[in-house]
Amino acid sequence: MSDAAMRPTFHFTPARNWMNDPNGLVWHDGEYHLFFQYNPQGSGWGNMSWGHAVSRDLLHWEELPVALEHTPTEAVFSGSVVVDRADTSGLGGDDAPAMVAIYTSHDLLTGHQGQSVAWSTDSGRTWTRHPKNPVLEIGSTDFRDPKVWWYAEGGCWVMVVALSTERVVRLYRSDDLLAWTHLSDFGPAGSVDGVWECPDLFTVAVDGDPARTRWLLVVSVQEGAPAGGSGTQYFVGDFDGTTFAADPSDGSVSWVDHGADYYAAVSFNDEPHGRRLLVAWMSNWDYARDVPTRPHRGAMSTPRAYELRTRGDRLVLAQTPVVEGLPGPVRLAESQDVHDGVHPLPEEFRATSTVLTLELDPGTASRCGLHVRAGERERTVVGYDAARRALYVDRTTSGDTDFHPGFGAVHTAPLELDADAALVLEVHVDATSVEVYADGGRVVITDQVFPSPGSDGIALFAEGGTAHLRHLTSTPVERG
Ligand code: FRU
Repeated sequence: MSDAAMRPTFHFTPARNWMNDPNGLVWHDGEYHLFFQYNPQGSGWGNMSWGHAVSRDLLHWEELPVALEHTPTEAVFSGSVVVDRADTSGLGGDDAPAMVAIYTSHDLLTGHQGQSVAWSTDSGRTWTRHPKNPVLEIGSTDFRDPKVWWYAEGGCWVMVVALSTERVVRLYRSDDLLAWTHLSDFGPAGSVDGVWECPDLFTVAVDGDPARTRWLLVVSVQEGAPAGGSGTQYFVGDFDGTTFAADPSDGSVSWVDHGADYYAAVSFNDEPHGRRLLVAWMSNWDYARDVPTRPHRGAMSTPRAYELRTRGDRLVLAQTPVVEGLPGPVRLAESQDVHDGVHPLPEEFRATSTVLTLELDPGTASRCGLHVRAGERERTVVGYDAARRALYVDRTTSGDTDFHPGFGAVHTAPLELDADAALVLEVHVDATSVEVYADGGRVVITDQVFPSPGSDGIALFAEGGTAHLRHLTSTPVERG
């Protein structure tokens, strides 16, 4: 497989080398900043440093030099960035507020993990480590991934950080980003099979009404996610300035995504349009080290706006992918019956990178949907299973699956369609990934796939009966 064919068009990848979690997501002065866990020296995890990229539209990213480089004694683990407009830290320049990074220093000699500070007064281009680092240290080897934001109601900074092996999120407050006071702990709760990492706590709008908000705690867990391995769970609740209390649960875990490749999701600080935007690492600790791409390894998800929707007596997460500024969609197929079988679309609609919208009435079909990245011997199946009432992505024959046992699998998510309602999907297809949004973004499956370069066909399919297509469009995404 050529290098270029494995380079996504609208998902961020570094030019070369290993990448994992998004870090320090913040908007400042016209730029969205994406820092990321990065190995400047190799394509495996190690030498952890903060890579850096900026974008004005969340679609085209410019990679910049490494922002925070590892040292012989310090690995720079995950964390966040705030813009300290009121100069509470005293680190600001004469006419430039400081961007302040709060990240985990992993001490390579002792194994201790503590929270450290670095700052920049030139829009994140150069960074200085604070002489008092680590500014928050409790003698733990599993204390990481601080997410800090300005809590306006309390007039202070708040940090959520994971006590990973304890499955606890710890909350702190600070007036100056340097001295931190313990507020409370949350957990263990929800999914506790794997260690907890990369927490985030923020408000989201309910049912599209910005005046109605609730708090959402997002926590990544390394094992036990529905598609196997690592995944991201969430809790809806309240934060009173001291404690986060989750709403009573029915015992089931709320997963952000039902695919295998959505981890370490964290939100942007200071998003200028008031959206709650999150980016996740599109991989899974089960096989991240083995994915067959080069010279880069690791890609980010599409940024997604999170909100809550009322469903019966529950509030559930809904996600809207943000891919803006594309040309208008092309209609791929007219309204028609989709008979039992596979029906390739005409050649001119072949696409490696595209956003598809589909409205398909399952009719009498037991299963129906789309093949994407389809070639002679391979395809990724995006379908609805009427008997199981489930959305699924089948990547068993998606291309290269041999690099990890169990990679070639089917991932499902419960999806109830109302009687006579159509399956309505938005499917984001790129060089090495498929993201599927159903039910207005309430049900999402994100999966990496590694098809051969020429496998760019799209087909409709039905099994066990006849489905009816109402609508299918494609918006090809060109390389920026
Ligand atoms: C999550 C994680 C974090 C840690 C970082 C190290 O994927 O394990 O907990 O800070 O990656 O690269």
